[in-house]
Amino acid sequence: MTKTTITITRPDDWHLHMRDGEVLKHVAPFTAKQFARAIIMPNLNPPVTTVVKAVEYLDRILGAVEGTDFEPLMTLYLTDNTSADEIIAARKSCFIKGVKLYPAGATTNSDAGVTDIRLCDAALEEMQKAGLPLLVHGEVTTPEIDVFDREKVFIDKILQPLTLRFPELKIVFEHITTKEAADFVLQAGNNIAATITPHHLLYNRNAMFQGGLRPHNYCLPVLKRDIHQQALLAVIRSGNKQFFLGTDSAPHARHKKESACGCAGIFSAHAAIEIYTSIFEQQNALDKLEAFASFNGPDFYGLPRNTNSITLIKEDWQVPDHYTLGDDTLVPFLAGQTINWKLAEKN
Ligand code: NCD
Ligand code: ZN
Ligand code: ZN
Repeated sequence: MTKTTITITRPDDWHLHMRDGEVLKHVAPFTAKQFARAIIMPNLNPPVTTVVKAVEYLDRILGAVEGTDFEPLMTLYLTDNTSADEIIAARKSCFIKGVKLYPAGATTNSDAGVTDIRLCDAALEEMQKAGLPLLVHGEVTTPEIDVFDREKVFIDKILQPLTLRFPELKIVFEHITTKEAADFVLQAGNNIAATITPHHLLYNRNAMFQGGLRPHNYCLPVLKRDIHQQALLAVIRSGNKQFFLGTDSAPHARHKKESACGCAGIFSAHAAIEIYTSIFEQQNALDKLEAFASFNGPDFYGLPRNTNSITLIKEDWQVPDHYTLGDDTLVPFLAGQTINWKLAEKN
């Protein structure tokens, strides 16, 4: 029987870019409407490298979601110089839920990222002790390595050795895009998990070249070939607890995407849970949606599951061509297309 409504425990987004300033004000309400909590990425410019900066950023986010009960879960940006003391301060703060590893130069605002993971040993040691997860952008940056192989090489060169050196460290392999990444997490212990984005489930790399160059389907790690998309879909159908929802919604103004050197990032916060629901339905796996969206994340992070719920209705709606972004515009994921699930207004 086809379902016409579905009610699930309120979901959380375990990988989100909310940005700052004017952009933050525009994008934060989209997430607050759908999700109870979100792990907030620290790749601002300058990045959120200290507990003091994180609390200031938290305050600005709370200002942008005033009137809602949305809870931002803050993270620190790991650098070559992050001290063990900063990690201790993060643990004591109680509001820092993870520390983000950006290999230097891997992605948007990653210039201050880590040049050699061994320089972070003291911080990692302290994180392992505190049970504070390391959140990983898993790509090597070596220019010789083919862009489509950067995740796979990262697993072999960085991640695998890291897990041997810090066997108890909690790690979230963020926005995984390959069969190799899915297999790595599947064979790993319960201290290792992964987030999966809606775009890597819905598309393969053909989507970047459909009838011409499609900058709004460009993100990092870049979309991969079909076999990898199929491996990610198999993972969500399996219902494995080590995988959970992380949109990687990453807004960039239209002119920064439609440019001679366009920014990487796909904005999906406007319709994230609806898109995931469509994907799970299409995979005949609607019964696996709630654990992926609402249970596996908090269970991994050691946080309580949400107690309220949301309802989605089987109803077509059209994604706008763009949203306002101050003086600029923002082109959302699936702009102009029809989505067949809609979040019920009253939840
Ligand atoms: C993200 C961004 O724009 O901040 N971009 C992206 O393509 N995913 C950074 C990131 O998550 O790597
Ligand atoms: Zn990333
Ligand atoms: Zn991201």
